[in-house]
Amino acid sequence: MKLLVCGGAGFIGSNFVRIRVREHGDDVVVLDKLTYAGRRENLHDVIDDVRFVHGAIEDPSAVADAIDGVDAVVNFAAETHVDRSIAEPDAFVTTNGQGTYVLLEAARKAGVRYVQVSTDEVYGSIEEGSFTETSPLQPSSPYSATKTGADLLVLSYFHTYGLETLIARGSNNYGPYQYPEKLIPLMVLNALHGDKLPVYGDGMQVRNWLYVTDFGRGIGHVLEQGAAGEVYNVGGPDECPNIEVVKRIVSATGNDDSLIEYVTDRPGHDRRYSLSSEKLRGLGWEARVHFAEGLQQTVDWYRENTWWWEPIRSGDYREYYERQYGRALG
Ligand code: NAD
Ligand code: TYD
Repeated sequence: MKLLVCGGAGFIGSNFVRIRVREHGDDVVVLDKLTYAGRRENLHDVIDDVRFVHGAIEDPSAVADAIDGVDAVVNFAAETHVDRSIAEPDAFVTTNGQGTYVLLEAARKAGVRYVQVSTDEVYGSIEEGSFTETSPLQPSSPYSATKTGADLLVLSYFHTYGLETLIARGSNNYGPYQYPEKLIPLMVLNALHGDKLPVYGDGMQVRNWLYVTDFGRGIGHVLEQGAAGEVYNVGGPDECPNIEVVKRIVSATGNDDSLIEYVTDRPGHDRRYSLSSEKLRGLGWEARVHFAEGLQQTVDWYRENTWWWEPIRSGDYREYYERQYGRALG
């Protein structure tokens, strides 16, 4: 299959490209703007096997170039960090909103299947039970609101124009190549450096952890077997409160709990996410990696791949960290 993977230089996109090139022999075009979160390094071992187009999804000419001759589009490209969306929502509206629109128009013109990579955050928070694909959409942050708007636009292209659209809504991902603004890599790298571990609020917020290759394979199922116009949840096998995630990282890195520091809570912080993935299981997908095993693999990967994170931790990320947490990294 010839695929256009937008945002393929980011965390989940690069893991997806690796799976499609190595396990499916796909011909892949990557379109990526290379924001702070997108790096060619994320594709280091497959970069010679793909066509790389440096451009933005909201730029119709870059999209027209990249989409030429493909069978399907998979869109990962997005601004993805909730804390950044609270501080500066602007780029979230442009990329997640306008960018999705430009891609949909190009897919409509080309007449190709379109998969939107979305998130459990569109449903908002749930105290008990799990969200299904028909649960109401109640996003809380500018990030999740712009992702919700994008999902609705995608569905409208199915209903109005008959474009073959699909949506895959994943729960919190973790694994190799995740930018260290997100909970797990932030805590792993801070713990490895003896920096404080900033836990928001009481640390009892619960996330439904999904190993990144399980999400990549789930998106592959949706792409190949999903029914046009449908939404599929892709949830992880385990849920865990943040404080427990952090304590496991403390112990996996040989530290003690004195590194943990409770800090001011995130505004509008969703308490719990939980997805039911029954519908996707019906297509034969199953998560393979449990949290205990995946977390250990992730800690090991960060420990071993200093080449990957050293330039990040000594670059612009330092300023971001100081702005966000009011203290310098060690
Ligand atoms: P990421 O922030 O690591 O990567 C985003 C990628 O998109 C980067 O390569 C970046 O350069 C690129 N990009 C950003 N703006 C762009 C633009 N305007 N044009 C072209 N490229 C652009 O994100 P991620 O964690 O890999 O998430 C990928 C997708 O999966 C997103 O759509 C996100 O909403 C969704 N998702 C993420 C998670 C998670 O836990 N990280 C969970 C569920 C769904
Ligand atoms: P994050 O990785 O930002 O993902 P999301 O907000 O999309 O779920 O955060 C995961 C959880 O960890 C969330 O409840 C917020 C919390 N968190 C902290 O407690 N401290 C931190 O420094 C970060 C980045 C997140």
